[in-house]
Amino acid sequence: MIEQLEAVYKDAESALDAAAGGEALRTWEQHYLGKKGLIIELVRSVGMLPKEDRAAFGKRANEIKNALEADYAAREAVIAQAELTQALQEGAIDVTLPARERARGGLHPATLTLREFYRIWADLGFQVFHSRDVEDDDTNFTLLNIPPHHPARDMQDTFYTTTPNVILRTHTSPGQIHAMRALGENGTQPIRVILPGMCYRFEQITARSEVQFHQVEGLCIGRHITMTDLKGTIAEFARRMFGENAAVRFRASYFPFTEPSMEVDVECFLCGGQGCRVCKHSGWLEIAGSGMVHPVVLQNGGYDPTEWSGFAFGMGPERVTMLKHGIEDIRYFWGNDLRFLEQF
Ligand code: PHE
Repeated sequence: MIEQLEAVYKDAESALDAAAGGEALRTWEQHYLGKKGLIIELVRSVGMLPKEDRAAFGKRANEIKNALEADYAAREAVIAQAELTQALQEGAIDVTLPARERARGGLHPATLTLREFYRIWADLGFQVFHSRDVEDDDTNFTLLNIPPHHPARDMQDTFYTTTPNVILRTHTSPGQIHAMRALGENGTQPIRVILPGMCYRFEQITARSEVQFHQVEGLCIGRHITMTDLKGTIAEFARRMFGENAAVRFRASYFPFTEPSMEVDVECFLCGGQGCRVCKHSGWLEIAGSGMVHPVVLQNGGYDPTEWSGFAFGMGPERVTMLKHGIEDIRYFWGNDLRFLEQF
């Protein structure tokens, strides 16, 4: 039995030398040193030896067990070091590889549409005039012919601030007043501007309405501006924006700051006017509110309405973007989901 013990010892040592990794090492430990391992099994069978041989056997078995445990620990350290070195090498950065291309950012879909608007309106002679986002109640409403308590105020739900009379503009139309006063030189100069910017409405957020959205206001003031100018200008914009054959139609409407007022539809460019889901089978898509600037508004801007006239319109670039790309939910615009934004 002592030979058997020595043989197991020898086998164990060579098997340990051969163990190439952590996995093999653990298998080895179980096989030789584990609770049901070969060494323990031999020790347990010590009773089969004659009494006088038992002590020597036990001592030798212990020596061997200790030796194997020490060798195991040493081997384990060597293997761990080797595995670490290998992992480091595999993870090493090859500095000679070409650099990975960095993903380029893109413009926001709303910005893309705004820029298209700017380009077209610039070609039609309209300069950009920037007006403030934070307005006073007067400019946003009263000077636009919407007196306090007028029911038309309910057309747009307002974000009020803690400062009395200071609000977030609900539309870009107050910019008309600012533009007339800033550029009109006391009602003596003609004006042709667009007023782009963010508007804010205290509304339930749904797929169709957001609390913030862009508008592009247009304002044209002159001595002989007529509704024909308005219609021709908008029709030309539609051709440039939606295609050479884009037809427009004007529907009578109501805004307190224009008289007469009209809503502008463009023939549905998705179905060619045949009727589809997007145009709700009407063949037409609404793209703007518009009208002739109300005499009261002209006066508030410093112009004499008996000598001067003008037209104004307001468009929603997000809406145009949605129509163009078949986007069904306006919440995507400010949701900052890259899966949406990266498509533009
Ligand atoms: N301000 C109007 C709105 O927000 C749009 C509009 C602008 C209508 C200019 C007529 C003239 O709905």
